[in-house]
Amino acid sequence: MGDIGERKPKVVIVGAGMAGLAAAHRLQSCSGDILDLVVVEAGDRIGGRIFTSEFSGSRIEMGATWIHGIDGSPVYDMAKKAGALIPDDHGGFPFPFERMDGLRSEPLTVAEGGRVVDASMISRISALFSHLKDLIASGEAGDDSPSVGAFLRRGFQSYLASREIGADWTEAAAFAMYEYGERTYTAVDDLESLDLAAEKEYKEFPGEHITLPGGYSRIPNFLSSRLPAGAIRFGRNVSLIEWRPAGSAGIDPVRIHFEDGGMEYADHAIVTVSLGVLKAGLNVTVDGAPGLAFSPPLPEKKREAIRRLGFGLVNKLFMELKGGGENDRSPFPSLRMAFDPARHVASIPRWIRRTESIFPIHSGSRVLLAWFVGGEAAEIEKMDDDEIIRGIHATLDGFSPPPRAAAAADAAFGKIARIRRSGWGRDPRFLGSYSYVAVGSSGDDQDELAKPLPEGGISPAPLQILFAGEATHRTRYATTHGAFLSGVREADRLIQHYGLRSCGF
Ligand SMILES: Cc1cc2nc3c(=O)[nH]c(=O)nc-3n(C[C@H](O)[C@H](O)[C@H](O)COP(=O)(O)OP(=O)(O)OC[C@H]3O[C@@H](n4cnc5c(N)ncnc54)[C@H](O)[C@@H]3O)c2cc1C
Ligand SMILES: *[C@@H]1O[C@H](CO)[C@@H](O)[C@H](O)[C@H]1NC(C)=O
Repeated sequence: MGDIGERKPKVVIVGAGMAGLAAAHRLQSCSGDILDLVVVEAGDRIGGRIFTSEFSGSRIEMGATWIHGIDGSPVYDMAKKAGALIPDDHGGFPFPFERMDGLRSEPLTVAEGGRVVDASMISRISALFSHLKDLIASGEAGDDSPSVGAFLRRGFQSYLASREIGADWTEAAAFAMYEYGERTYTAVDDLESLDLAAEKEYKEFPGEHITLPGGYSRIPNFLSSRLPAGAIRFGRNVSLIEWRPAGSAGIDPVRIHFEDGGMEYADHAIVTVSLGVLKAGLNVTVDGAPGLAFSPPLPEKKREAIRRLGFGLVNKLFMELKGGGENDRSPFPSLRMAFDPARHVASIPRWIRRTESIFPIHSGSRVLLAWFVGGEAAEIEKMDDDEIIRGIHATLDGFSPPPRAAAAADAAFGKIARIRRSGWGRDPRFLGSYSYVAVGSSGDDQDELAKPLPEGGISPAPLQILFAGEATHRTRYATTHGAFLSGVREADRLIQHYGLRSCGF
């Protein structure tokens, strides 16, 4: 049990995203009045990479969208308590949201140029891809390929070799389409950078994957509503954390420095900033650069882990179709695109050529959504709206079916009135979207990242800096539930340290 003196031990949580709020909520409900608890947040809202918004009369998610498996998921539990599973009333109808039901029904796969791809070929390629992914998840993929990308490519090559007839480009294009989907789940620019061995450690909760009718932000709102008024301080941009490594003299607590020159003492800091912000912090040499720095610098092992682990970029692009009344249903299908590597429609821009699909956010919706990853996600952050809209129009033209379906196509492949997109990469509070295990790193790096400081022991003061956030969870990184569980883990570390009663939510 730690020593509780006259002064209450002070815990400063850096970041009011899922991890920070889960930690705060856990500490609050378990420690009662014993700890002095503050959450400092650089931005002006809670939720971090959870951010529900509205566009063209629909509820949209700029960040986290799915609960990846509901059975046993603590986030699903919270969603129920927060009322996020129930849609708001919209004049007697449920408020429209990203229901993704259009995706679950048969999507239309079209090859560049406009030919609808044969369904039996798609189901062969889809079965092959699922089979290869099962081999990866079960650890049967062998050690011949270091990366997911290399393993998938070998699998596709041997599939081709096993067949008598030569492949035409659409088959390779269909396989690539599934690879592009995989890039979105993992946030990696090139699947050749995604570590194969780590993939089998990755865990999902069983059960359905769902989106939230009431909006994802209900969950952070619910968590924060349980904190005392004023516990979360906005506009507090932490630039530097001073700590005392083992063996140094003095018993000073941690000092948290803010960009505006302010400073706050703490006995414990729980750092929940993104891996992107930690990576940038390794390189801070001049004042005014983004990123969170430490003094003394983090131990070399932790710095290496931060360097090696991958932090990817994923952005969502929402597009409103022109025409029709507000309540008219649009016939736009869930369009999956098989791009010709020879770029036979020259007007289709390069930045959409590794996007898997364009689809309505619910069936009949006039709001379309496309996901961008890596280099292309960075590119769409830099372009202006008109340039993006022109590129989407060229793409839709290049994929519209031939004249016999013209009547339907005219309506379906409509024009875009306006767009809304996320920009997670250039936002200094995130500097990317979510983490992955890059080739050259491993789950050990995630464990290393999660270790509190100072290392190995209590001198001069124990548990000065604790680390939470999605990237610190070895088996459930890149998700909201990974972030949540990491926050609970670090709160429990302190709860145990102070010998407080254990408690749930
Ligand atoms: C486009 C996109 C789609 C996603 N889709 C899904 C999905 O479908 N399902 C899923 O489970 N997950 C998804 N995720 C991932 C999920 O959103 C994250 O894993 C999770 O929300 C991360 O929570 P966190 O608390 O670890 O970090 P964050 O949410 O990043 O919270 C950290 C907080 O720290 C603050 N901060 C940063 N720097 C400083 C500083 N210097 N000083 C003070 N405060 C600072 C930030 O403003 C932020 O509020 C998605 C993410 C993105 C971007
Ligand atoms: C925090 O301050 C640094 C240093 O001035 C700055 O570069 C960065 O953009 C700021 N971050 C946020 C989230 O405001």
